[in-house]
Amino acid sequence: MTSITYREPAVDDAQEIWELVKNNKPLDENSKYLYVLLCHQFSKTCCVAEHNSEIIGFLSGFISPKDPNTLFVWQAAVDNRFRNQGIAKKMVFQTFSGTNSLVKFVEATVTPSNHSSLKFLQNFADQAGAKLVSRPLFSTDVLEDGHEPENLIRIGPIQKKILEVMS
Ligand SMILES: CC(C)(COP(=O)(O)OP(=O)(O)OC[C@H]1O[C@@H](n2cnc3c(N)ncnc32)[C@H](O)[C@@H]1OP(=O)(O)O)[C@@H](O)C(=O)NCCC(=O)NCCS
Repeated sequence: MTSITYREPAVDDAQEIWELVKNNKPLDENSKYLYVLLCHQFSKTCCVAEHNSEIIGFLSGFISPKDPNTLFVWQAAVDNRFRNQGIAKKMVFQTFSGTNSLVKFVEATVTPSNHSSLKFLQNFADQAGAKLVSRPLFSTDVLEDGHEPENLIRIGPIQKKILEVMS
C-alpha cells in the first residue's frame, strides 16, 4: 500500500505546490506569490499530501470571513499517479479536523463536469455522516473567459466527534 503523509504546508513548499497546480488541469493557474501567501498566512487551513518527500497533493482553504462556521475549500490537486485512492477526501478530513470547534460546515465550488471533484466531496460527506447540498452560484457571465459555471457545495453540519472516530 502507498504510504502518504499529510501536513500543513510551509513557505518552502510553495514552488512545488505551484508546479503541482499548473500540472493538474483544469485548475486555474495563479501566481507563485499566491501560493507563498497561502503557505504563510493560510497554512492552518491548507494541506499537502507527501509520498517519499514529494508533494503529490494539495488542498487550499480558509475560514469564510462571512461565516466562521464554515471552512471554504478552494483548490484541490492530486497528482495523476495517485488519484482515486481517497487522497483528496483525506486532505479535507485532515484540514477540517484541525479547525476550531465553531467550524461545522465545508463549502466548495465545483463545475458540473468535474465528476471526481464532486465525488470526493460526497465521499467526505458520507463518511462524516453529513448532508451535501448543491446550488448554482457563479454563472458563466460572472466568470467569463469561457469558464464553466460553478455550483456551491455545502456539507454539514459535521460532528467533530464523528471525525475523531474516523481518524
Ligand atoms: C479532483 C481531484 C483533486 C480528486 O483527487 P483524488 O485524490 O483522486 O480524490 P478521491 O480519491 O478522494 O476521490 C475521487 C473519487 O472520484 C471518483 N471518480 C474519478 N473519476 C470519476 C469520473 N469521471 N466520474 C465519476 N467519479 C469519478 C473516484 O472513483 C473516487 O470515488 P470512489 O473513491 O468512491 O471510487 C483530482 O482528480 C485532481 O487533482 N483533479 C484535477 C484538478 C481538479 O479538478 N481539482 C478540483 C477542482 S478545485
